[in-house]
Amino acid sequence: MSTGAAPPAAIVIFGASGDLTRRKLIPALFSLFRQGLLAPETTIVGVSRSRFTDDEFRERSRDGVADLAGQQFDEAEWASFAPRLRYMAGSTDEPATFEQLRDLLASLDADAGTGGRYLFYLSTAPSLFVPIVAGLGRVGLNDEGPDDSGDAFSRIIIEKPFGEDLASARALNEHVSAVFQERQVYRIDHYLGKETVQNLMVLRFGNAIFEPIWNRRYIDHVQITVAEDLGVGTRGGYYDKSGALRDIVQNHLLQLLAIVAMEAPARFDSRDVRDEKIKVLRAIVPFDPRDLKSVAVRGQYEGGRVGTEDVPGYREVDGTDPDSNTETFVALKVAIDNWRWSRTPFYLRTGKHLPTRATEISLQFRAAPHLPFTSNAVDAIDPNVLNLRIQPDEGSSLQFIAKAPGPKIELRTVSMDFAYGSSFVKRVPDAYERLLLDCLLGDSTLFTRWDEVERAWEIIDPLLEAWATAPGPFPNYHAGSWGPVAADEMIARDGREWRRL
Ligand SMILES: NC(=O)c1ccc[n+]([C@@H]2O[C@H](COP(=O)([O-])OP(=O)(O)OC[C@H]3O[C@@H](n4cnc5c(N)ncnc54)[C@H](OP(=O)(O)O)[C@@H]3O)[C@@H](O)[C@H]2O)c1
Repeated sequence: MSTGAAPPAAIVIFGASGDLTRRKLIPALFSLFRQGLLAPETTIVGVSRSRFTDDEFRERSRDGVADLAGQQFDEAEWASFAPRLRYMAGSTDEPATFEQLRDLLASLDADAGTGGRYLFYLSTAPSLFVPIVAGLGRVGLNDEGPDDSGDAFSRIIIEKPFGEDLASARALNEHVSAVFQERQVYRIDHYLGKETVQNLMVLRFGNAIFEPIWNRRYIDHVQITVAEDLGVGTRGGYYDKSGALRDIVQNHLLQLLAIVAMEAPARFDSRDVRDEKIKVLRAIVPFDPRDLKSVAVRGQYEGGRVGTEDVPGYREVDGTDPDSNTETFVALKVAIDNWRWSRTPFYLRTGKHLPTRATEISLQFRAAPHLPFTSNAVDAIDPNVLNLRIQPDEGSSLQFIAKAPGPKIELRTVSMDFAYGSSFVKRVPDAYERLLLDCLLGDSTLFTRWDEVERAWEIIDPLLEAWATAPGPFPNYHAGSWGPVAADEMIARDGREWRRL
């Protein structure tokens, strides 16, 4: 991962009037600017069809940042940032849009000093990825120089989802790689930009005490949970074509698994880290479509109570099919066939309208082989668990057994906690800040390489196919519960249980 300020560049955001731009991208760029990590010449060009002037786009962006920052919003700082924002109305269906963009970028190079360094951010529906890539290629904006300074670049950040199955991902990648070289392509998975995910690598490879026990001999199993308390909200139409496997498992969950399970990279750079991740993904045992029941559970929520609110069932949400076969919950048992993890299962689960919003990796250690204390049987004692919380409050904790004060030996489970908020005074940066900065600096360590994306689709494709052809037993869990009973049964068959978060 890189450090230091980014060189001057033009950052072009396709989908500038959209939700992600307003809530994440502009606030992240503003934050980098405030920290002095964006060069003063850097110019951000928003592109979408809406007819905004530069000032209207600035005003809109200001409102987004101010909403997010609340009391912390600093009008004077915004005033010095706002002139960095430009807007260009245009449809990506029109060849003229790309010609106009090429001319605008040339004028910025000449007048603002962006130096032929371009970062294109594809924050649009995936159906526009191919037309945008092709349009950029047609006008030569994929070209990286030569220019006077010799350090021109053209990089492209592609939002998720990268394809909707293996075949479509391969087709998309063919289009992308016909125009951009792999080193120019930054496929974003914003989980990789989260502090705890980066810290997981530091925890594993910066400390001597964890690595010796980070394997099948000491770890009984691993659980990775991405739980959302929200439902699909207003995105019913989009979600009904996607589902939890595509939306969360193919990208975030498999990426988290790869980082937990990978070997130590020789160097912390984009090649070595990603080489290690792909080895793990390749070692995942493929799902056998004939035996899915023992390793895969899907669910869809019906109406229920989440917190204090009554919520409707998934099939009643606007935009979803009343007979929808889309899963809003997935639980998987994943086997990794290598020396480190043989017979140590990784249980993954994700779902909408679960009781809480929490993303957590937990490594459950094997039980102590023998307890010399008479009054407590070994199986009555909680095992040691290392929890890595990714959201909402980033941090980690180690659960172990201690003696309760008193004349007798009484064993209690206690926890040693590390929370970013209390250990560091510094604010935890948003994932998009880290990733935008890394891309400007040419560091793709925290972005997914094509072979990882392809392998992830290979892993889930058999499930997608099997589930598309057989209707699910839906709905099968109440909103506000921890998912279908079958998910509990799946893990219980192995003599284990899901952590209650
Ligand atoms: N929102 C999130 O929290 C989030 C999180 C993770 C990933 N993502 C991904 O990020 C991407 C953007 O998501 P979003 O939620 O921001 O979508 P969105 O709100 O629907 O925005 C889509 C953008 O595309 C523009 N657009 C549509 N057709 C266009 C065309 N023909 N030419 C030029 N611009 C066009 C729209 O503006 P006009 O109508 O003005 O043209 C709008 O700015 C998606 O791939 C999504 O999967 C989003």
